[in-house]
This record gives sequence, C-alpha cells and structure tokens, in this order.
Amino acid sequence: MKSRRQVEEMIHSLGWWYQHFEFPNGARTGNGQEPGYDAQTRWDIIKPFIPQDLKGRTVLDLGGNAGFFSTQMKLRGASRCVLVDPFSEFIEQARFTASQFEVDLELVNDDAHTFCLTNEEQFDYVIFLGLLYHLKYPGLVLDRLAEMTQKRIFIHSHIVGKHSQNYKEKTNYERTKDNNLLEDPAYPKMLFIENDYNGDPTNWWIPNYQGLAALVRSAGLKIIERPHSELIIAEPEISFGKVSLTKLVFPKYGKRGKAIYPGPQRYDADMWLDLIQRSKEPNQEKDSQ
Ligand SMILES: C[S@@+](CC[C@H](N)C(=O)[O-])C[C@H]1O[C@@H](n2cnc3c(N)ncnc32)[C@H](O)[C@@H]1O
Repeated sequence: MKSRRQVEEMIHSLGWWYQHFEFPNGARTGNGQEPGYDAQTRWDIIKPFIPQDLKGRTVLDLGGNAGFFSTQMKLRGASRCVLVDPFSEFIEQARFTASQFEVDLELVNDDAHTFCLTNEEQFDYVIFLGLLYHLKYPGLVLDRLAEMTQKRIFIHSHIVGKHSQNYKEKTNYERTKDNNLLEDPAYPKMLFIENDYNGDPTNWWIPNYQGLAALVRSAGLKIIERPHSELIIAEPEISFGKVSLTKLVFPKYGKRGKAIYPGPQRYDADMWLDLIQRSKEPNQEKDSQ
C-alpha cells in the first residue's frame, strides 16, 4: 500500500479533480471548492435508495468522472461496474481511484451518445449524475438509458428556476389561447446554451424543475422519489425487453397514454379523424388576425 504522501503526489500528478473525496489512507482530492464539489454529499442523498448488498448486480456510470460513485457501488458488492467518460484525464483518475479502493472497474473512454447508441447491454443500476446538461441530445440519451435500466436509475441535473408547487399541467395546450401558460416560468422547459455557461463550453441544455421531471417521464421512466430539486430516482415503467438497436426510431416512444406509447410508431385513427374535422372548420386564428 502506498503512503499517504505518495498518494497525494499521485493525486497532484493526475491534474484537476472535479470529484472531491477521501481515499482509504486519508489523502483527499480537491478541497470541496467549486467548480469541483464534495461527491460524498451527493452520495449521501442517493445511497438510501440503493440496496446495501449489490452482489450479482451490474452498474453503468455514465459520465463517471474520477470513479467515486462506481467505487461506492463496487464497495456494496456490485459484480460489474462500467464507467464511461470521454476525457482520458478522468479515466486515468478513475483508474487510480479503483486501484486505491482495490476495486475492479471497467473503464470506457467514450462519449455518452456513442456508447448508448452502439451498446445493447442492460444494467441493473444506472448512474446518470451531472451529465444531462452536458449533452447535445439529452432526450436521446435518456430514452436509451430508460431502455438500458433494469432496476433503477439515478438522475442528477443542474436546473434553473424554482419549483412551483402551484403549477398544474394541462393535457392539451391550445395554440395562442394558452400562450400565457406556456410562458409561465414553471411550465416544463429546457434552456439551450449556444455559447458557454459558467465558463464551460460543454454545457448545452438546462431544464427547469418541471422540465427535468417531464423529460424523465417521457423516456418511459417512473419517478419514485425526488430527494433534492436536482435529483430524481426513477425506475423503468415499461419493460422494453431486449434492446434492439437496428429497430431504433426516434422518437421511439410517443406521448404518454396515446396510441404510439410505447413501441413502434403506428397510425392513430382518432388523431387523423380529429385533424380532418378541424380542417373543415374555419381557421379562427387566421380570421382574427
Ligand atoms: C459535472 S461532471 C459529473 C461527474 C459525476 N457523474 C458526478 O456526478 O460527480 C460531468 C462528467 O461528464 C463527463 N462528460 C461530459 N460530456 C460527456 C459526454 N458527451 N459523454 C459522456 N460523459 C461526458 C465529463 O467528462 C465529466 O466527467
């Protein structure tokens, strides 16, 4: 076993650490200051939702960074843990973390989109923390993760705005008439970040409180707990069975409760009849302009 001083030197040589945590011999990465953070605080929120004994269970840690969460899952006995991160610097940190905790992690140096669209595996537990807002196509990845999750998925995202308890969703929003409802800050939204956010060019989309939940639900996941405004614990609502990428069509899963939800796209007779009926009616919006 390396001395504390040797471990500290290794930590230093591995560059900037986003995840701040303590190694078994007391050496620490970072100092808890932003833009890094104390990873234990996030683990403390999600760990009550994870079985103590993960023997025989598999885990995917997408955007796993320096391996803190993967390591926690292995320490609970997970048989296999795959960590995916596109930055080789973080992969090297995760390799070092695994060696210090004496756990075995499968490290994949890849992008989340590529991994999710080229991998047909399913995992018992999926860790998807602090990554959604870094993705150019977050809905696409979340749809795939819903299919890849057997038991439970842990989702964290930065959000903007406050949680409005009073916000009541409608089942249908009428064009023009309901614009005030769509413009309500509490209406499910994602902000598109064309340039940098927080000095970070890897940020793309930031949902609001309701938007994060809506995105999760529309992927075919059931929210079982929201222990923090930025954290959702969810389970697959529908069993997708074996994932077959050759048949993947986006959006594969249509609106909740409608003919095309879930499964392959198919003709919705009621919707067509309604469209025909509406095309016979005078266009009120045009008439009023
Ligand atoms: C904010 S950190 C979160 C790290 C860790 N999941 C956590 O919660 O502590 C975002 C992580 O996602 C990784 N990342 C960024 N873009 C990614 C992408 N397109 N695919 C996979 N991982 C990505 C980063 O390298 C970084 O490790």
